[in-house]
Amino acid sequence: MLKNFWYACEFSSAVISKPKQIQMLGERFALYRNPQGRVVALKDQCPHRGAALSLGWVEDGCLRCPYHAWKFEADGTCSHIPANQPSVPIPRRARVDAYAVQEKYGFVWIFYGDLPEAARPPIPALPEFDDPGLHPIYYETKVNAHYTRTLENAIDFAHISVVHTGTFGNGFDREQTIEEYDVSEEAWGGNANILFQQYTKPKGFLKYVVRPSSSQVRAKISFYLPNINKLEVSFASGRLINFGTHIPIDEKTTLIKRVQFRSFLTTPMADPLFYRTNAKVSREDSVVAESEYPYAIPHNLADEVHVPSDALSLAYRKMRHRYLAMGWGIDSQNQLAHPNGHSIESSLTLIN
Ligand code: FES
Ligand SMILES: [Fe+2]
Repeated sequence: MLKNFWYACEFSSAVISKPKQIQMLGERFALYRNPQGRVVALKDQCPHRGAALSLGWVEDGCLRCPYHAWKFEADGTCSHIPANQPSVPIPRRARVDAYAVQEKYGFVWIFYGDLPEAARPPIPALPEFDDPGLHPIYYETKVNAHYTRTLENAIDFAHISVVHTGTFGNGFDREQTIEEYDVSEEAWGGNANILFQQYTKPKGFLKYVVRPSSSQVRAKISFYLPNINKLEVSFASGRLINFGTHIPIDEKTTLIKRVQFRSFLTTPMADPLFYRTNAKVSREDSVVAESEYPYAIPHNLADEVHVPSDALSLAYRKMRHRYLAMGWGIDSQNQLAHPNGHSIESSLTLIN
């Protein structure tokens, strides 16, 4: 896991005045929206007895602990301890970590790290989110796998015709070769373009957008450190863009929050069709990602075998290694989501 980045950790619509716990990077965060509409993010662990502040309540824009009602300001300082006589001062250590927050592209982003504001990597530019011609749907999937594996899965060209035979991959021959491609590096990320030939057997809704007479499919795949993927697919009659933030809950569990945009069939009445297909696609991907071992991608590039179609994931690995070498790694041993070693069923939740 990497520190010193902005993490898109929740859909903006899901953060309201009632506090909510977010699990990420082996930590717990309490998020709430104050009366001015600003999102506040605090460490979800009271310094008094460790209770989860997210079970408390918001009062005057501050958060009250559910156990002894200590009051925490948005900057994490404690301003009231009800059990104290008025003359008793508040201990200096009675404070919780507060995190910088931005809301952008329909997400709440938390900065996790120790860089001053001016030195922080920016949130990537994602212009699709401001394009009124694109219709979005929102959904999320929990996967029992390390986020480096789920992210790599999302930027992998060569698995589509193999893993997705039950969905959109069925349009290809099973043994689809991948043309050699170049990786373009951009600030904090990389991308590659591919022209898939012979997408001749579209299934499901793709039958309506990929014409057999024009069987070429153009795809651009991008990644942005630490955990974002974007897939843009162009057919003869439209564009489909999949965006995902692979939220590392802990070293074995990832919550992928996704937005899919489409330029065709933009009526919301068509949404259930896309949700259904995406649920199947997510299950197809989860099966392989959950099988990968070791859980995280290896530190040593030579520990796995690479071929030309892996060029984009190699670029991701190398870029990630650069930041690990700079000391931006977090080695979290916390297993928040399943502390007793139970495996988590992959599941998909639709966000309305
Ligand atoms: S545990 Fe939070 S006030 Fe006591
Ligand atoms: Fe996939």
